[in-house]
Amino acid sequence: MSGKNWDRVPIDAQSVDAPLSQSAIFLVVTVAADKAALARVCSVLGELDDLVKNVGFRDLGGRLSCIAGIGRDLWDRLNASQRPVELKPFAAIKGAVHSAPSTPGDLLFHIRAERPDMCFEFERILLDRLGVGVTVVDEVNGFRYFDARDLLGFVDGTANPTGLDLPASALVGDEDASFAGGSYVVVQKYLHDMQAWARIPTPEQEAIIGRTKIDNIEIDDDDAPRKSHKSLATIEDADGNEFDILRDNMPFGRPGQNEFGTYFIGYSRYLWVIEKMLQRMYVGDPPGAYDRLLDVSTPHTGTTFFAPTRPMLQALVEGAQK
Ligand code: HEM
Repeated sequence: MSGKNWDRVPIDAQSVDAPLSQSAIFLVVTVAADKAALARVCSVLGELDDLVKNVGFRDLGGRLSCIAGIGRDLWDRLNASQRPVELKPFAAIKGAVHSAPSTPGDLLFHIRAERPDMCFEFERILLDRLGVGVTVVDEVNGFRYFDARDLLGFVDGTANPTGLDLPASALVGDEDASFAGGSYVVVQKYLHDMQAWARIPTPEQEAIIGRTKIDNIEIDDDDAPRKSHKSLATIEDADGNEFDILRDNMPFGRPGQNEFGTYFIGYSRYLWVIEKMLQRMYVGDPPGAYDRLLDVSTPHTGTTFFAPTRPMLQALVEGAQK
């Protein structure tokens, strides 16, 4: 945890615990195979903190933050002597009814701010610095929707870990000491079938999500015939210990194009925890009883990254340039 007063200084790059924001940009790029492209990327990652400061200082109340995540293939190209133990490309999932694709991505930039213009300005400068050696494969502008609702109308993010539970859930610890403080990041871009969702009566929607719609109260569905999204996404070990992740999903869309989406982003200390959530959602528990949220939500991307701490990122790119 940075322990900083976020209103008085720009937010350090790679702060996984940066505040949730009104706006976000999720930018995924691939890096060309040539050495020049890699060198340029390393130099930009090395100056990421300065880039955040340059834009963030112009309105500290805008709370600009940026986290860069690195995919497995790019990590290997950086010639690092070690790799986070669980880092691997997103494993596509094939359930009986719904599937999740694995899509390319060398770098993720998760840009957050209270103001969309700050996210925009930062992204503009960042892409300018990255130059022609990177190709944008996905770019999503997310916005906060009223009281943190997704476009399906439910409050999203309530069960996120807070206080000391946040680093314990989201940041790697002593189990992989060389990468302690970093975080596994998984993203998926979902598009919703809003017409189909609107046809489902509210009590049934609530049973699908596991919370009431208007006032966001958790529904005890231990004895329900079918598990809710909330219950399928709850991971416990044999001793009943729960494993949380930190989510900062954002709605996005273009009503004129009938595009309504949720950008899922999860930060986790352990990659296996997110993988297990996905298995339970897509395959179901018991198998076949999949997450009915997927009947109206289709993933179009799926990519895994590792977000190193700021010093770790610095050392990584400096080492690669030698
Ligand atoms: C279409 C995409 C998604 C939507 C609209 C969505 C929406 C929601 C909503 C409304 C809740 C209940 C409130 C809350 O605690 O946040 C929730 C809970 C949760 N979701 Fe999702 N979600 C989506 C995808 C995912 C995915 C892909 C994962 C994991 C891989 C996930 C993991 C969780 C977890 C861990 C919880 C909290 C469960 C608990 O109560 O402990 N969600 N989600």
